[in-house]
Amino acid sequence: MKITSICCIGAGYVGGPTMAMIAQKCPHIKVTVVDLNEDRINAWNDPDVNNIPIYEPGLSALVAETRGRNLFFTTEVEKGIDESQMIFISVNTPTKTYGLGKGMAADLKYIELCARQIAMVAKDDKIVVEKSTLPVRTAEAIQNILDNTGNGVQFQILSNPEFLAEGTAVEDLHNPDRVLIGGNPTPRGTQAINALVEIYANWVPKDRILTTNLWSSELSKLTANAYLAQRVSSINALSELCERTGADVNEVARAIGMDSRIGPKFLKASVGFGGSCFQKDILNLVYIAKSYGLNEVADYWEQVVIMNDHQKRRFANNIIQTLYNTVADKKITFLGWAFKKDTNDSRESAAINVADHLLHEKANIAVFDPKVRSKQVISDLQYLNEMELSELEKSVAVFEDPYQACEKAHAIAIMTEWDEFKNYDWKKIYDNMQKPAFIFDGRNLLDPEKMRAIGFIFSAVGSAR
Ligand code: NAD
Ligand code: UDX
Repeated sequence: MKITSICCIGAGYVGGPTMAMIAQKCPHIKVTVVDLNEDRINAWNDPDVNNIPIYEPGLSALVAETRGRNLFFTTEVEKGIDESQMIFISVNTPTKTYGLGKGMAADLKYIELCARQIAMVAKDDKIVVEKSTLPVRTAEAIQNILDNTGNGVQFQILSNPEFLAEGTAVEDLHNPDRVLIGGNPTPRGTQAINALVEIYANWVPKDRILTTNLWSSELSKLTANAYLAQRVSSINALSELCERTGADVNEVARAIGMDSRIGPKFLKASVGFGGSCFQKDILNLVYIAKSYGLNEVADYWEQVVIMNDHQKRRFANNIIQTLYNTVADKKITFLGWAFKKDTNDSRESAAINVADHLLHEKANIAVFDPKVRSKQVISDLQYLNEMELSELEKSVAVFEDPYQACEKAHAIAIMTEWDEFKNYDWKKIYDNMQKPAFIFDGRNLLDPEKMRAIGFIFSAVGSAR
């Protein structure tokens, strides 16, 4: 079957960039991205491509090239579904905040809603592709809904999890390590798999397009994120030991990373991993293991999240202890609020937890981030902190200029590894701070020798103080 029309439900961090890439590489396919969120769709359609809702290097150019040609953003969900042969589901699957599995399981209400809507609208056969990250065996539930509420239409379900990382989404999509497609091993299932393989084959070498059964594909996505997060928690666990023993975590990471079996990537000690995926997906894996009675498996993976929480708390406590055991009424400047560089996404950013901890100690927090706006910072904190909005606004100030953010500060905390931070005039920043002036580098970004030579009392995660 040759696909010429695709619909993607969910115009978020995954749906937007992945569909823009497909549209660019496949000019013969009409790609429609639908979302219930009108503001988001309006932003995707903003005549100035710099105002699209997601910041990713290279994304505005991609959208500028394809939007209106064969890429469309609309709130007309039903029409989008009706007019497409293949429907990607790319909606959010957050951790449940209520009921059974609260705080652990993935909330599948948005997925189920999509399945019901597809079943209701579809008048001809469709291929439904799970792009969202889902618990293993979700395809079974989707198939059930589609088969039992539909109108005799045939649906084939595929799992095609997305492995892009934010900040490098366009490059990751352009040149993926692999594309994973899971499907049923029936003749129709195989036909559907081939149809999706043919789309990716427009730019991805065939030997990097991996096909598996549905359950392997669904579980591989959770596993990949669990492995990646585990590497961060492992090096972070050792960062604490480094601080006590005089070893330097960067040197240790370099030494072990040169072992080709370990490899050098994802060994950067930090204030803790953030982002909308790692914690959610590991908790989901833990929940699934528990639901099968695999308690040791569950405990093993849960430790990755426990370690990450410990790392964030430890970073905040270190600031308090170093500042003579009190931060009350002191100005602590956060450079960086996004969960990593080159994105405007602050979901689950370590900065939020650290700021919350310091606010409970009555600190005043100043924030500068090159891409995260003031409204977002306040709403992130409001969500976590029980302080009244007016009180929060008195204790938290968000700046447009990093030098102003650091003026008269007692300490600076580097929360995100934005490249521009390295090139600041640190002498000027130092001169305008309270003395002694402290830097807590949560990203191992700055040169310790240079900072100490200026006069800063400098500490970084994983090096002896
Ligand atoms: P997101 O919150 O940015 O976007 C999801 C969008 O879906 C929202 O705009 C929401 O309004 C829309 N939506 C929800 N229900 C809808 C419905 N019934 N009809 C129409 N629109 C609906 O989420 P995201 O970051 O793009 O993540 C989507 C999925 O991809 C999640 O399962 C996530 O785990 C997975 N994933 C995310 C990343 C990432 O880097 N963010 C990477 C790989 C996989
Ligand atoms: C992750 C996966 O990498 C990606 O494959 C998946 O599709 C979605 O989840 P993302 O969360 O966007 O991507 O970013 P990632 O680069 O994985 O970073 C996650 C967090 O770990 C960030 O807070 C980052 O700063 C932190 N991290 C990463 C470290 O602290 N040290 C490292 O060595 C690597």
